[in-house]
Amino acid sequence: MEKTFLMVKPDGVQRQLIGEIVSKFESKGLQLVGSKLMSISTDLAKQHYGEHKERPFFGELVDFITSGPVFAMVWQGENVIEVTRQMMGKTNPKEALPGTIRGDFGVTVGKNIIHGSDSLESAEREIGLFFKEEELVTYEKLI
Ligand code: CMP
Repeated sequence: MEKTFLMVKPDGVQRQLIGEIVSKFESKGLQLVGSKLMSISTDLAKQHYGEHKERPFFGELVDFITSGPVFAMVWQGENVIEVTRQMMGKTNPKEALPGTIRGDFGVTVGKNIIHGSDSLESAEREIGLFFKEEELVTYEKLI
């Protein structure tokens, strides 16, 4: 089953949006397979956002993601990467449609509430950065 890494950013946690965001994904029929409320070290932030290290906003990005707790999650489902990206809306909340998470709650491109993997490769890499194998559950024995 396809998996993705999703993370409520410090602005979303501070604004107490974790429950509402989790509820949207549950209502959509996706399955939560791992989650934790955590602080991100500068080291982890730099690894996670490594592909943006040449961008002018890289420092800002690292400072923001390490500024407060985040809620890291792994979700699974059919086409979960594409489905959750649609539900999150465009990266810039100004362009995100109403009804999407960023469209409804996001303020600026930096403070855009949620991060989600954009491909199978990044999902695998990001899940591996944030979760150990034993922190993820399976639903195989459910009847
Ligand atoms: P995210 O999906 O977490 O992945 C990279 C992040 O970089 C993105 O969401 C935005 O929050 C952030 N970002 C993109 N463009 C800018 C920008 N111009 N200034 C600050 N942050 C940005």
